[in-house]
Amino acid sequence: MSLILGIESSCDETAAALVTSERRILAHRLAGQEAAHRPYGGVVPEIAARAHVEILPELIEQVLHEGQVELAEVDAIAATAGPGLIGGVMVGLVTAKGLALAANKPLVAVNHLEGHALSPMLSSPDLKFPYLLLLVSGGHCQLLLVAGVGRYRRLATTIDDAAGEAFDKTAKLLGLGFPGGPAVERAAAGGDPQAVPLPRPLVGSGEPHFSFAGLKSAVLRAKESGRYSNADIAASFQQAVVDCFLDRTRLALEAADGATALVVAGGVAANAEVRTALKALAAGHGLPFVAPPLWLCTDNAAMIGWAGALRFDAGLVDGLDAPARARWPLDPEAEKARGAGVKA
Ligand code: KG4
Ligand code: ZN
Repeated sequence: MSLILGIESSCDETAAALVTSERRILAHRLAGQEAAHRPYGGVVPEIAARAHVEILPELIEQVLHEGQVELAEVDAIAATAGPGLIGGVMVGLVTAKGLALAANKPLVAVNHLEGHALSPMLSSPDLKFPYLLLLVSGGHCQLLLVAGVGRYRRLATTIDDAAGEAFDKTAKLLGLGFPGGPAVERAAAGGDPQAVPLPRPLVGSGEPHFSFAGLKSAVLRAKESGRYSNADIAASFQQAVVDCFLDRTRLALEAADGATALVVAGGVAANAEVRTALKALAAGHGLPFVAPPLWLCTDNAAMIGWAGALRFDAGLVDGLDAPARARWPLDPEAEKARGAGVKA
């Protein structure tokens, strides 16, 4: 059994956790920075990086204390090394390098997306490779066949905005505040999902990818028309996103030979409508549906510690020269999706 200290700092959550390769989470701490970014309506990279510098050391001390573990007892230190906001990534990675050097421990440089991709295994011990993963977060919207640790085949990605980004922009357009996803979900609860006719970009297309830019523009036009309530726009937007997820995932299921389960992860997986719809889709294909608990869906350090534990056990450790990467595709072999602004 290995014991890993995990560190996450790629966006606006600062987090540390102690995780074992037997799926035990000894301690985990997370400090959000919502209040600091709220006046700007989105994450300000420079503010995020400074906040990580201030908060991270304390969080690490807290998890070691709570887990009753000395740094000397951990087997490795795992940190997100990308993709993400580069200033924040550097804070977490350099902190991990410092600890690794001081305590003479190996470093595991974890891809944040791999953290999300493997997080469902932490809460669902029966989940087996390969599984089809819909990874939907603030920066990404991908369908991946997860074949093993470090083995990912990207079947689809977004050609413009990420799914969470679409939620965040919609929230901003509707004046619902930040962070946008939960605010849109709350507003949608009181609205009619059929009230506003909105497009479902790429639905029905043989091209496997996602697109949300046109949906966002349609939301803006609906708002400007003055004909609809915020609740109806939010509910109709959420339904359009769910319909896109369903159609694209259905297509991927046909291509994902041998997938043993349909899994959703990333911040948007916290959305109840998304979970309900995907669960029904999986049932229709005779597959189990797996979604991590809400706190494991959004950014956290337990998923980084867990990915670190699996990598460490597989002998995949990194040198102190491991780079921080703003972009770092999980499947480097994947063909580029068309369009500009393609997210890795
Ligand atoms: O995975 P995550 O915490 O951070 C990234 O790696 O991006 O995802 C954050 C994203 C944000 O865009 C946020 O608005 C969205 O997940 N999100 C939601 C919900 N909770 C968080 N989107 C829709 N419904 C939610 N309940
Ligand atoms: Zn994330």
